[in-house]
Amino acid sequence: MENFNFYNPVTILFGKGKTREIASHIPRDAKILLTYGGGSIMQNGVYNQVKEAVKGYHIIEFGGIEANPTYETAMEAVKVIKEKGLNFILSVGGGSVLDASKFIAAAVKYQGEDPWDILAKAKPVIDALPIGAVLTLPATGSEMNGNSVISKKSIQEKLAFGSPKVLPKFSVLDPEFTYSLPKRQVINGIIDAYIHVMEQYLTYPVNSPIQDRFAEGILLTLIEEGIKAVENEKPNYENRANIMWAATMALNGLIGVGVKHDWATHTIGHELTAFHGIDHAVTLAIVLPGLLRKMKTKRRERLLQYASRVWGINEGSIDERIETAISKTDEFYRKLGAKTLLSEHNVGLPTIQKIKTRFEQRGMKAVGAQQDISLQEMEEILESRL
Ligand code: NZQ
Ligand code: ZN
Repeated sequence: MENFNFYNPVTILFGKGKTREIASHIPRDAKILLTYGGGSIMQNGVYNQVKEAVKGYHIIEFGGIEANPTYETAMEAVKVIKEKGLNFILSVGGGSVLDASKFIAAAVKYQGEDPWDILAKAKPVIDALPIGAVLTLPATGSEMNGNSVISKKSIQEKLAFGSPKVLPKFSVLDPEFTYSLPKRQVINGIIDAYIHVMEQYLTYPVNSPIQDRFAEGILLTLIEEGIKAVENEKPNYENRANIMWAATMALNGLIGVGVKHDWATHTIGHELTAFHGIDHAVTLAIVLPGLLRKMKTKRRERLLQYASRVWGINEGSIDERIETAISKTDEFYRKLGAKTLLSEHNVGLPTIQKIKTRFEQRGMKAVGAQQDISLQEMEEILESRL
């Protein structure tokens, strides 16, 4: 196992009705910016529960944060915070609202010229406003990590940053808040969480049996509960609770300590969102099967472990076992209802070329934390998904 530091101070308030407790986690004199998205929280009653819980606080609301949140909208919120002298952000919504809130929190305190540099030039986050979160969509793990992904509309760029300064002080995970999700978003969440695990698991062995078995446990849970979620006519509390906790555990740092990460699927997927607006999770479901096939030889050991422990495949040649595991992974995403081929999204060769050129312009020679996927291989991965 590799050396690591692990720090995760986020208080999780898990279960139905937990929003009622948030006031005890927000300083009495806080002046709050309540951030939200396109209005789903108004329709499903979440807004009312939150307002009830923070009665008496000084609150300004800021809605309209988009899915795949933009720098442009976030900077509007920064203006509001500065004008009104606010000092706490309460994020109510999915990963997009929370990611935007994290960027806003860092941008307000940023001392340099343009906070975009936090993303584009990896400028460090020295300070940030405190954030609390009420999560309505299990998927990103943003509720218990210090990551944020922001798009700049004007240049079609989608970039990520991470800092412990933007870890939420608390996150409410109430499974009932997910009942109003359209099926498409439930599916997206399951796939995103699944692939977060794969990015931290399907690389190279480092003798990490605890992290491996945690990871495999999350994958198995997502397969079992994911299929149930799609088949259930009505949302079921236990099912939604298990999906919600699985998604948080998939990206709160725990399974990623001391092991070799990848994140190539995300790096490539973000470009498909930037150029074509395809849902984040769907971009991952497109890329991952192609990536695993390309890495069949280099990552053979891990693929065989994945085949055996997650899909129960122990018979056949090495090649057959690996291929079956990859096909089953792709089939799982399709069973959930995701379209996993580029042609199903009207994306063709020109986009693949654009992505390659963009990576070259960024000075990249390879993708992924292990730098084991050359740009040529990246191109072939996408071509295999046409
Ligand atoms: O905007 P509203 O009206 O709230 O509607 C949202 C949005 O349209 C809707 N929604 C959310 N909760 C709902 C609901 N509708 C009905 N009932 C509810 N309870 O769902 C739509 C999608 O929401 P969004 O927040 O965009 O989804 P998600 O949580 O999947 O977040 C996706 C974003 O997170 C980034 C992605 O790149 C993408 O920009 N990621 C962030 C990560 C992180 N911070 O660690 C890691 C991930 O890999 C990912 O990259
Ligand atoms: Zn993701």
